[in-house]
Amino acid sequence: MCSSTTHTILPEPPAELKQSSDELTRVISKKIARDGPIPFSEYIEMALYEPGLGYYSAGLRKFGGDGDFVTAPQLGDVFARCLAKQVTQIGEHLGDYEILEIGAGTGVLAADLLRALQTDQPPTRYRILERSAYLRQIQKETLTEMVPQWMDKISWLDTPPQAAWQGVLLANEVADALVVERFCVTADGISRLCVGHDETGFSWHKGVCDAAMTERIQSVIANSEQTLPTGYCSEINILLPAWLQAVTASLKTGLALFIDYGYPRHEYYLPQRHDGTMICHYRHRAHDDPFLWPGLTDISASVDFTALAEAAGQCGLEVSGYTSQAMFLLANGLEDIIAGFQSLEEKERVLMNSQVRRLTLPGEMGERFQVMALSRGLSEDFCEGLDGFSLADLRYRL
Ligand SMILES: C[S@@+](CC[C@H](N)C(=O)[O-])C[C@H]1O[C@@H](n2cnc3c(N)ncnc32)[C@H](O)[C@@H]1O
Repeated sequence: MCSSTTHTILPEPPAELKQSSDELTRVISKKIARDGPIPFSEYIEMALYEPGLGYYSAGLRKFGGDGDFVTAPQLGDVFARCLAKQVTQIGEHLGDYEILEIGAGTGVLAADLLRALQTDQPPTRYRILERSAYLRQIQKETLTEMVPQWMDKISWLDTPPQAAWQGVLLANEVADALVVERFCVTADGISRLCVGHDETGFSWHKGVCDAAMTERIQSVIANSEQTLPTGYCSEINILLPAWLQAVTASLKTGLALFIDYGYPRHEYYLPQRHDGTMICHYRHRAHDDPFLWPGLTDISASVDFTALAEAAGQCGLEVSGYTSQAMFLLANGLEDIIAGFQSLEEKERVLMNSQVRRLTLPGEMGERFQVMALSRGLSEDFCEGLDGFSLADLRYRL
């Protein structure tokens, strides 16, 4: 996800959008009035997915130039063409294979990927597991327009597949969109941060962590190689193992690729990140107030890739690769793609070069984004030769 990170004054939303946000505020505050302060995870769940009103459920433009943020597939087709090379390697190894994409956004990654795979190693089918009914509709429109010849092989799922399948699972910028809990270190131990509401708006409340959550947070902190001082606040995705288990349970043989912004744990809970990694996006501005205009603002948190690796272990998946997005793309033919820009008109060449810079420069997506490959049923020898991880194997950092 890319946007300006200045905390400048945000542009005021138009009246009808403010109204929709006010309506969502009423729904959330009613729940708080009834139940008392709610865990932050419940607040995010409603802010993002409340039917008809949540950020991902309502019909607002989120991605691209006139949205709130830009993801790698939105920049152009370079990301998908590189990804296609990694997918092709798996496809050639498996023979018949499928793709399951989780959280497909506008559907443009699916379209560009299918175009890139069309001649060499096309999948037998492409399924999309998408939470947002509104985005499912947008994805259908995108795919019908861009790859009409593929429509009979593309389908949408409401819940993870049950029947065993083999192939590639893709999740670009999905793990960061899962709900997280926020916690704070206090003199008395760990507090779960909850959300209250009064006439001045939403506010943070220190709640009580149940024993299981306290134990989980304490073990993560102990394993982070950091001593977190009193007042340190951050996020933790308690539900990650259950979610990973659900979405990968039926993957019998193949590779799951998770691409997202985040860190290994020893970098996640650093002293300088004393207020966590949560980030909100509104109109290409990043800000840190999740209570501002609920339903109009995206809320996400960086991914703890060590937690993803641990969850993978619990699900019987092997961590077969971990590297930066820049290294993954370079190892998947980016230089050949760049060489092809020579034949383009100058204007087009400038645009393509700018796309590559955003995908790969360290201060853009190149090093902030990581790629993790989780495998099941593939031989160690094959996994050690995965194209995308051949330039830099960073698993030692997890
Ligand atoms: C930040 S967007 C990324 C979209 C797209 N992958 C891209 O790169 O442009 C997050 C996507 O994940 C979806 N999503 C979030 N949680 C999900 C879940 N538990 N299951 C399926 N989709 C989910 C959202 O609706 C949205 O499509």
